[in-house]
Amino acid sequence: MQSSALTLDGEYISFTPGETIYEVAARAGQMIPSLCYDPRLDPFGGCRLCVVHVKGLRGPVASCTTKAVNEMVVETLDEEIERLRKTLLEMVASENPRIDVDPLRGYASQELTTLVDRYGARTGRFAGSHSGHSKTDDPNPFILRDYDLCISCYRCVRVCAEQEGDYAISVMNRGFHTQITTEFNNPLKQSACTFCGQCVQTCPTGALGDKKAMRFATERS
Ligand code: FES
Repeated sequence: MQSSALTLDGEYISFTPGETIYEVAARAGQMIPSLCYDPRLDPFGGCRLCVVHVKGLRGPVASCTTKAVNEMVVETLDEEIERLRKTLLEMVASENPRIDVDPLRGYASQELTTLVDRYGARTGRFAGSHSGHSKTDDPNPFILRDYDLCISCYRCVRVCAEQEGDYAISVMNRGFHTQITTEFNNPLKQSACTFCGQCVQTCPTGALGDKKAMRFATERS
């Protein structure tokens, strides 16, 4: 079989047909910033943080949804791309009422915080409405539903459907009215949720939290 290769930030790298630019970069040790990406899930292309320049294309493209093509030339870190990422982050961070969250909320809960720090993104640059309203009164003992911190990456919805096959979590409304919910907007206990915790562990902002871990830490302090 003929081998395929592309140039990524000046380095010539071979790839397997079907791989995305993001996957090729990750394999080469170049971690392109992302918020809606989870390697276990189908590409979604929602946050646009993973944008890169491809020589010959007019605008930046999302690397997580763009397949690698033989002899492609990709820039992941040029000035314009980094500026665009910072602006995107500032939009997300301005809509999010809290960036610093308890790391015990979940495995990926620091992803937004880490990126905001890395880019020095301002959290109050864009004023306006924000989507997602917390349901911290959900009586289940396992999962904190603090949707004020939701950035609509849909990783929770997608992991529940694609990895667990439960389809317990869904989305209602659009734009600034987007809300992560359950069937008939019921508490989690009355949904198809099995409390596997996958949604908590993939959430990049701590909008979903592991109540047990947080309780344990509080009791020990
Ligand atoms: S990680 Fe590619 S669009 Fe979000």
